[in-house]
Formats: sequence, C-alpha cells, structure tokens
Amino acid sequence: MPDKPVAPQQPVSAAERPASGRQGAAPVLRVAELTVRFGGVVAVDNVSFAVEPGVAVGLIGPNGAGKSTALKAIGGEVKPTSGAVFFDEVDLAGRPPHVAARHGLIRTFQLGGEFGRLTVMENLLVAVPGLRGQTIWGALAGKRWWGAAQQAEVRRAQEVLSRLDLRHKDNEYVRDLSGGQRKLVEIGRALMARPKMLLLDEPMAGVNRSLARHIEEALTALRNDGLTLLLVEHELGSVERLCDRVIVMAQGRQIADGDIGQLRSRQEVLSAYLGGR
Ligand SMILES: Nc1ncnc2c1ncn2[C@@H]1O[C@H](COP(=O)(O)OP(=O)(O)O)[C@@H](O)[C@H]1O
Ligand SMILES: [Mg+2]
Repeated sequence: MPDKPVAPQQPVSAAERPASGRQGAAPVLRVAELTVRFGGVVAVDNVSFAVEPGVAVGLIGPNGAGKSTALKAIGGEVKPTSGAVFFDEVDLAGRPPHVAARHGLIRTFQLGGEFGRLTVMENLLVAVPGLRGQTIWGALAGKRWWGAAQQAEVRRAQEVLSRLDLRHKDNEYVRDLSGGQRKLVEIGRALMARPKMLLLDEPMAGVNRSLARHIEEALTALRNDGLTLLLVEHELGSVERLCDRVIVMAQGRQIADGDIGQLRSRQEVLSAYLGGR
C-alpha cells in the first residue's frame, strides 16, 4: 500500500481536544542521535527527540524516510549504528526486544499465520510474558493449559477485549477475522504485556474506514488512560486527531517536530510531505 498522505477529514485541532500527558513530566522515552546504517544506506540519520508520559506522538514522512527502521531501532529489533535510546533513563540501544518489553516498551507485531490457528483469547494469553504455556504449541496442546492459575490473566484478557470491542470474538479463530480486527488483536496482545509505551507501525493501514476509526478511537482511549504512544501512520486525519505532536522524517533525517497545525505552515514540511495541503 502506498505511503501517500490522505487529506484529513474533520480536522480537530489540538486546542479543541482535552489536554493529555503530564505537563512538564520527565520524558519516558529519549532518543539521542540515533543512527542506523544498512551498508551504504543511512536509514536513520542522527535523530533525537523525547516523548513525555501519556502523550501520543506521530511519526510521519514519505516512503523510505526511515520511520519503520527508527521504530525498530527503538524497540530493539534493529541494532542502531550509534546513538542512545533511553527508556525511563535506561539506555536500551542495541538491547533485544524482550529487554525493552521488560521495561514496558512494546512494539505491536503483525500476526504471522500460526497465530491464525489460535483463538482471539488464546492469542492474548500466549502474549503474557512468563505465563505457563506461552508458546503457541503449548497453547495448541490443549485447553487444560489454561487452568486455575491462568484465570486472572483470562479475566484481564476479557477486559482488554472489552476495551477493544472484541469481547464477542474471544472464541473465534484469528484466521477468520477481518484485517482490521486482526490489528486490534495485535494491540490487545501488546496490552497483555502491561506496557508503559506502545510503538505501532501503521496500525490503521489496509483497514476499511470504519475499522480504522475504531482502531483510532481505541488508541485515543488508551492514550487518555495514560499510555504513551509512538506511531507511524500515513493517514494524516488520524494523526491529527490522535497525536499531540508529530515528528516528520525525510531521507533518514528528522526535519520537524511539533504540533501538526504549526507544521503545516512550514515550507520544508510542506514540500517534503504534506504536499501543500
Ligand atoms: N533491513 C534492511 N536492509 C537494508 N536496507 C533497509 C532495511 N530496512 C530498511 N532499509 C532501507 O532503509 C530506508 C528506510 O526504510 P524504512 O525505515 O522502511 O522507511 P519507511 O518506514 O519510512 O518507509 C530505505 O531506503 C530502505 O530501503
Ligand atoms: Mg515503514
């Protein structure tokens, strides 16, 4: 799917939204001079920014700008060439994703085919770190795995599913869900690990408009409850409604950081991405 920006419908300026985040709080995430090279390609070039707790930050920019690589380098799947990724003041740069997850920094994952053979509920339960039977094979081995000791997690999974409006789907196989519902399951799985901050790469891409709205509303509710979000998204309407702040990347570099309304008036942002809209 092309990374083409879509004109926002019903733009809501940040001023019309209830304020989120804790004003003046120490940043939960601080990225300092992050650089990722692949051979001769500088995918992420000296990027620095901070994210305060409870805030939603959008990462936007044209195809190939380095957004996904930046997100992966923050979440631990890609080793940065240089730079630091402080999460709660711990430098996680170069540490694997499970270490980031242990600190509460979680990237949502596209569900591979094997997860389709599990129900929605099983998908959430296998995402709980350290829960017995967390391997999908263990889960597939039989429902007995989900005995009394897992009941608390089952109840929590039910709550998560209710929040995502997926409670009625808990016994359905993920392979039978629509693309948009699958994206909600991916978010639900991330929530089961009790994150402080979620990293999401195009959580609404390839989803029909009404489900995209539903995902956007679910993310807004999570942010309003204090979860910190960093998301790559090309649908600028969603970014404008959901995000408190936007970082614009082009050719690996961070070219702007601020309120999307302010950014629209900046020439280099317009020419790099917004196309003069
Ligand atoms: N694993 C990789 N190996 C080599 N080059 C890569 C790899 N991943 C991304 N790139 C390159 O890094 C640049 C940024 O890619 P990416 O982060 O996917 O951009 P975006 O998500 O903004 O579209 C592109 O030039 C891409 O081809
Ligand atoms: Mg990408």
